[in-house]
Amino acid sequence: MDIEAIMGEVLRRIKPTEEERAFINGLMRELEDLVRETSEDLGLDVRPYFVGSLAKDTYLAGDHDVDLFLAFPLRTPLKKLREKGLELGRAIAEELDSYEIAYAEHPYVRASYKGVKVDLVPCYDVKDWRDVRTAVDRSILHTEWVLENLKGRNDEVRLLKRFLKGIGAYGSEIYVRGFSGYLAEILVIKYGSFLEVLRNADFMLRQKIIDPGNWLKHEYETAMKTIKREAEEDRPLVVIDPVDPRRNVAANLSWEKYGRFYFKAQEFLQNPSAGFFFPTEFIGGDYLAELRRKGTHLVTLLFAVPEMVDDLLFPQLERSAKGFEKALAREGFAVLGWNIGRCKSGKAFIMLEVDRIERPMVRIHPGPEFFTNRGWDFYQKNERVWLVGKRLYAEKAVKESITDVILELLEKNQVAMGKNLRKPIKGTDVLVDYVPRDLETEAYLFLSRKKEGLKN
Ligand code: CTP
Ligand code: MN
Repeated sequence: MDIEAIMGEVLRRIKPTEEERAFINGLMRELEDLVRETSEDLGLDVRPYFVGSLAKDTYLAGDHDVDLFLAFPLRTPLKKLREKGLELGRAIAEELDSYEIAYAEHPYVRASYKGVKVDLVPCYDVKDWRDVRTAVDRSILHTEWVLENLKGRNDEVRLLKRFLKGIGAYGSEIYVRGFSGYLAEILVIKYGSFLEVLRNADFMLRQKIIDPGNWLKHEYETAMKTIKREAEEDRPLVVIDPVDPRRNVAANLSWEKYGRFYFKAQEFLQNPSAGFFFPTEFIGGDYLAELRRKGTHLVTLLFAVPEMVDDLLFPQLERSAKGFEKALAREGFAVLGWNIGRCKSGKAFIMLEVDRIERPMVRIHPGPEFFTNRGWDFYQKNERVWLVGKRLYAEKAVKESITDVILELLEKNQVAMGKNLRKPIKGTDVLVDYVPRDLETEAYLFLSRKKEGLKN
C-alpha cells in the first residue's frame, strides 16, 4: 500500500466521528455552564477554559480526557487560589458522577462524568507569559496559540500523535520522557504536515533550536538564556515555547525517545505500514512463549501500593526495578530486561526477565559421629566428607531458587528502592513465569524489552 493510503486508513481509525464530536461538544457546553453557575453560587469570579487536545481538536478517537481550567483573577493570592480552587472543583464535581483529589504543584479535582475523565484545575487567568505564576498557567495560552496557528492541520497532528504512541515515544511524563501533545502540535505547525515532520527528523536535530514564536527577534535576551541553559543540559531539541521565551517545550524529551523517533521515522518513510501506528503488542500468553524461545524466565513481584499518582509511583517503581537488577547481579542472576506498571486490581508490579531462576550452591552439612551406624551411611552417601573432631561433615550441592534469594535480599534490606515502596515491596508476592491478566494497557508497551529498546 502506498503511504497516502496507509495514512488514510490510519486516519479512519483515529479521527473522531461526527457522533463522538457531538457527544464531546455537548459535554463541554454542559460543563462550562456548570462551572459558571457553581462559581457564581460560591461568590467567585472564575472563568472556565477548556485546554488540552479537546479544546484544540487534536484528540484521538476514544481518547477524551477533559482538561477544564478554572481561571482566577491575577490579583488572587496563591493561598486563596489553592483553597478556593479546590472548593470550587469539589462543588462542581459533586454534580458529576464521581471524583477524587489529585496532587500536582497544587491539588486539583479529578472527576468522572458519563465515562469521561474530567480534570478541574485551578489556575491564573493569564494574558501573557509575564503573568505566569504556576506551572499550569501557560496551558490557556498554548490553546490560544495552537488554535490560531494550526490552520486546519488537525489531522496531521492526530497522525503524528498516533505514530509517536505506536513507537512508544509519546507523553512528556517523567516515566516516559517522550513528545508531549503540545510539542507534536508545534512540530506540525513548523514543518507543515505529519510527513514533513518525519522527513525533518535529522534536520531538526542538527538545527537544534526551533523558535516558532520568533522570540529571538522580540525577546532576544530571555530566549538566549533559555537556549544556553538547555544546551548545557544537553537536550536533543530546544523548542522555545511560542507563548513563553523562558521555557523549552521539549525539556522533558530524552535522547532515547528522540532516537527512537529518528529511526522509526526513517524506517516508515522507506517502508510504510500501519503497524508503526498500531503495533501488535505482546499479551500474557505470547510473552511466555517469547520467554521460552529465548530460554529466559520472568519473575513478577506483585504488591499493594499506597495511593500515588503515576508521576510519583512510576519513577519509584523504576528505581526499585533497577535496584533488583543490581542486587540480583551480585547474587549471580542476570536481569535482561524489566517492566513496571499497575494492574487493574490496584496492585503494582515489577517484572524482571532473568537468565535463570535457580543457582547452584554448596552448603556445609553436619553429620553424625563417625563410629555410629549412621556414620557409615553418611560416609558412603556424600561426595566430599571430612572430620572435625569425631563429627563428620560433608559439602552438599543444593539449588537455591530466585524467589528465596529475593526474599532474603528484602529481609536484609539489600535492594535500593523508591522511598515509598520499601514497605509495600517487603510484602510482595514473588511469582515465577507468570504474567498478571489485568495489566493496565500502558504496561504492555515495553514488555519483553528494555524500556529504551529500538528493535525487538
Ligand atoms: N502541557 C505542557 N507541557 C507538558 C504537558 C502538558 O505544556 N509537558 C500543557 C499543554 O498546554 C497541554 C496541556 O498541558 O495542551 C494538556 O496536557 P496533556 O493532556 O498532556 O496534552 P494534550 O495536548 O491534551 O494531548 P492528549 O491528546 O495526549 O491529551
Ligand atoms: Mn489532554
